[in-house]
Amino acid sequence: MQYRSMRSALVVGGIVAAAMMVAGSLQAKPVTYKLPPEVAKLKPGPNLDVAAANCIGCHSADYIQTQPEGPKFKKDFWTAEVNKMIKVYGAPIDEADVGKIVDYLTAAY
Ligand code: HEC
Repeated sequence: MQYRSMRSALVVGGIVAAAMMVAGSLQAKPVTYKLPPEVAKLKPGPNLDVAAANCIGCHSADYIQTQPEGPKFKKDFWTAEVNKMIKVYGAPIDEADVGKIVDYLTAAY
């Protein structure tokens, strides 16, 4: 009898603890901002927000991630790449954002 009531107390305790954990994670939600998966795939860097707004609408961040480019002429490469997205693929990128995106890509990749 004694054993039984101990057991049910443990079960109830476990349920309460689980409920508290759920409540805790619900509460934490507004505080911890999680980036959408595609944005999170972009490396952190200056103007990440501008790049994220312009560069993952048509294809995944993998396109940027997998460019086999060394440190040489990086900026030229990314300038050409961004202009290609605009001219060849019709990406609606604001002229004023091109420099910011190139700076981001050059710094982060
Ligand atoms: C209007 C749609 C569109 C937008 C916006 C766009 N791209 Fe692309 N991107 C494409 C297409 C289409 C391809 C070619 C896909 C293929 O070959 O399968 C491509 C390919 C690429 C590639 C692979 C290499 C290459 O030249 O084909 C890279 C790198 C790339 N994009 C980077 C970017 C970056 C950086 C941005 C933001 C400045 C961007 N893209 C925005 C459409 C877009």
